[in-house]
This record gives sequence, C-alpha cells and structure tokens, in this order.
Amino acid sequence: MRAIHILAVLLLLAAGGAAGAEKKACHGGDEAALLAVKAAFSNASSFVSWTPDIPCCHWPGIDCSDDDGSGGTTGRVVSLAILRDDGITGVVPGDAIAGLTRLQILFLFKLPRVSGTIPAALARLSGLKELTISRTGVSGPVPSFLGALKALESLDLSFNALTGAIPPSLGAPPRLISVDLSRNRLTGRIPPLLLSKAGPQAFLSLSHNNLSGGIPAEFAAVNFEQIDLSRNQLTGDASLLFGRGDDDKPVLDSADLSRNALSFNMSGLRLTRRLDSLDLSHNMIYGGIPAVVANLTNLQVFNVSYNRLCGAVPVGAAARYDLYSFAHNKCLCGAPLPDACR
Ligand SMILES: *[C@@H]1O[C@H](CO)[C@@H](O)[C@H](O)[C@H]1NC(C)=O
Ligand SMILES: *[C@@H]1O[C@H](CO)[C@@H](O)[C@H](O)[C@H]1NC(C)=O
Ligand SMILES: *[C@@H]1O[C@H](CO)[C@@H](O)[C@H](O)[C@H]1NC(C)=O
Ligand SMILES: *[C@@H]1O[C@H](CO)[C@@H](O)[C@H](O)[C@H]1NC(C)=O
Ligand SMILES: *[C@@H]1O[C@H](CO)[C@@H](O)[C@H](O)[C@H]1NC(C)=O
Repeated sequence: MRAIHILAVLLLLAAGGAAGAEKKACHGGDEAALLAVKAAFSNASSFVSWTPDIPCCHWPGIDCSDDDGSGGTTGRVVSLAILRDDGITGVVPGDAIAGLTRLQILFLFKLPRVSGTIPAALARLSGLKELTISRTGVSGPVPSFLGALKALESLDLSFNALTGAIPPSLGAPPRLISVDLSRNRLTGRIPPLLLSKAGPQAFLSLSHNNLSGGIPAEFAAVNFEQIDLSRNQLTGDASLLFGRGDDDKPVLDSADLSRNALSFNMSGLRLTRRLDSLDLSHNMIYGGIPAVVANLTNLQVFNVSYNRLCGAVPVGAAARYDLYSFAHNKCLCGAPLPDACR
C-alpha cells in the first residue's frame, strides 16, 4: 500500500508537469512561503526552477487548487512534495510550510540529510490530510500535537530516527485510517489508534521498533486491511486482531506479527478468506493450526515457525507451504515435518 501511494504521488508530479499550461496564477502568500522553504532547504538542486518568473503552481512538486475557494481564479497550493535529494540539509522549516495555509498533502521523502525534530508549526495546517516525512534524518518524538490535525487521513513517519512513546493523541483525528511509524526507535506501549469508523479499511505498520506490552483491546473494533507489528517486544494475545465470535474481519488481507513475544492459543483463531499473508513466526504461540488454513486459497505467505504449536499440520496446508513455515515448534507433526503424528 505504501509503495502504491508513493507511485501515485510520483504520477501526480509527472501529470503536474505535463498539464502545467492550464495551471492557475500563484497566490502571493503561497509563493513567499515556498521561497522560504527553498531558502531553508539550502537552495538545493530540487529547487532550481522555483523562481518568481514562473508561477508557483508550475513549480516541480507543487500542486494547486483550481481557485482560491472564494470565487477568485488564483490557485492555492494544496500539495508540496520534496523527494530524493541528498543535497537538502537543515531542519524541516515548520513556519515556512505552515505559511501554506491550504496545504492538504505534505510529502517529504528520502531526504537523508534533513534532521532535527518534527516542528510544532505543522499543527497549524488544519486542512492537512496526508503527512509523510519518511526516510529522513528526523529525530525526537512522534509529537502529540499531530493529534490536533483534525483532517488527517494518513500519517507516514517511517524510516526516521524517532524515539520515545507513541502519543495517545494520535487516536484523535476522526478520519485517520493509515499510520506507518515503522523503522524508528519507538518504545512503550501501543495506544489505541485508528479507531475511526469513517474509513472501513485501516492500515497500521509499527514494525522494527522497540514497542512492548499488549495489543490494545480496542483494536478488536478496528477493520484492519493490513497490520504489521513485526520486530517489537509485544506480549499477550493477538487473536483479537482476527475477530471474535461471529464478528470476523472480512477485510484483513495481511498480518505480520513476527518476532515478538506474543502468547495465545492459535486453535481458535478466526482466519478469513481474504487473507493473503500471515506471518506469526518467532513468538510463543501455542495450541494447534486451525484446520481452515487448508481452505484459504488466497493465503500465499503462511509462517508459524519458531512457536510452541502442537498437533498435526492440516492436510492441504502441508502441500502448499514448505517445512520452513512450520519448523521449530513444540510438537507439530505430519508432512512436511519429519515427525510423524502418533
Ligand atoms: C538561497 O538563495 C537566496 C536568494 O538567492 C539567498 O538570499 C540565500 O542566502 C541562499 N541560501 C543559501 C543557504 O544558500
Ligand atoms: C530495544 O530495547 C533493548 C532493551 O530494552 C535494547 O537492548 C535494544 O537495543 C533496543 N533495540 C532497538 C532497536 O532500539
Ligand atoms: C487451545 O484451544 C483449544 C480449543 O479451541 C483447546 O482444545 C486446547 O486445549 C487449547 N490448547 C491449549 C494448549 O491451551
Ligand atoms: C473446507 O472446505 C470444505 C469444502 O468446501 C468444507 O467441507 C470444510 O468444512 C472446510 N473446512 C473448514 C475447516 O472450514
Ligand atoms: C518463516 O520464518 C522463518 C524464521 O524467520 C524463516 O527462516 C523461514 O524461511 C520462513 N519461511 C517461509 C516459507 O518464508
């Protein structure tokens, strides 16, 4: 999903260049804010054509609305994307970016020499729907003020050097449906996130951090499409992610909970048809493999190795997954394992 999203932004940039001739005049305040961003980011090569003789809606990385929202024909900057430039140094220029008062999408991607913390001024962008600051040198906390962004739908702060706990305020934005905080150095417990009922298909990745404690009970009410909690130190029960009783999770298509310290009985796990990837390896999961696994025709990736499972590998599953999907358990038996069931 992330890769597709990035591709969409790249296509948007390409389309912006081609359709440039039809674009609107630039709003003076927006232009000033963008020139301040350029100066703060050391006038790097990404900004060579950000010059006042070209209307700012034509600049690479910029997308404008068709009008100013009150009948005028001046476009307002709604999207700012700066990506793949290791010549850009300095901190994220919060005040300059906050000058883009109609901004809906901020995309800062693969800027390895951008450092400092996430600036508080970004909380002033009340129309911001998508915030991406990914693959940068940004450090410090995931700031709690991000919870004040009422329009936020997608937050991607992956592949940075963020530390500390995930602030509970991230549960607040009513439309927030996609959160990626993977590959940082986050610690502490997972607060209840993504509890919005506005969007039915939630995306959450918190992989490669140092999170501990249990999975929040509130997650039982979230319709996850993809969830990746791998490589943390999470404990306890994860079965609530898969639904309970008759209330299954029909949209779940990918769950990676590998390399944690989760401990629950797999026998009763509800696994639905849509599921195409399930990695539970390297935990302390006990019980047996549910027979329904053999019926899940979409399930391409299935890995329960390095757990404490027992009993027979369901016939049918044995034919589709190799030995390394099942190895290193307590007493699993039957093909493709060498141990026959007694
Ligand atoms: C960037 O360009 C502006 C305008 O030419 C100039 O005033 C400023 O000093 C430059 N900044 C850097 C860091 O090069
Ligand atoms: C996670 O925490 C443990 C100790 O609590 C520490 O040894 C380890 O280096 C940490 N890992 C990361 C990726 O920060
Ligand atoms: C796991 O749950 C099943 C019923 O769903 C039960 O029969 C079994 O004893 C449980 N296993 C363990 C190890 O608690
Ligand atoms: C698997 O599918 C078969 C054929 O549709 C059905 O008879 C069986 O009950 C299913 N098994 C489970 C565990 O759902
Ligand atoms: C399952 O996970 C184990 C442990 O990480 C790995 O060695 C193995 O290759 C994986 N199996 C498959 C089929 O991906």
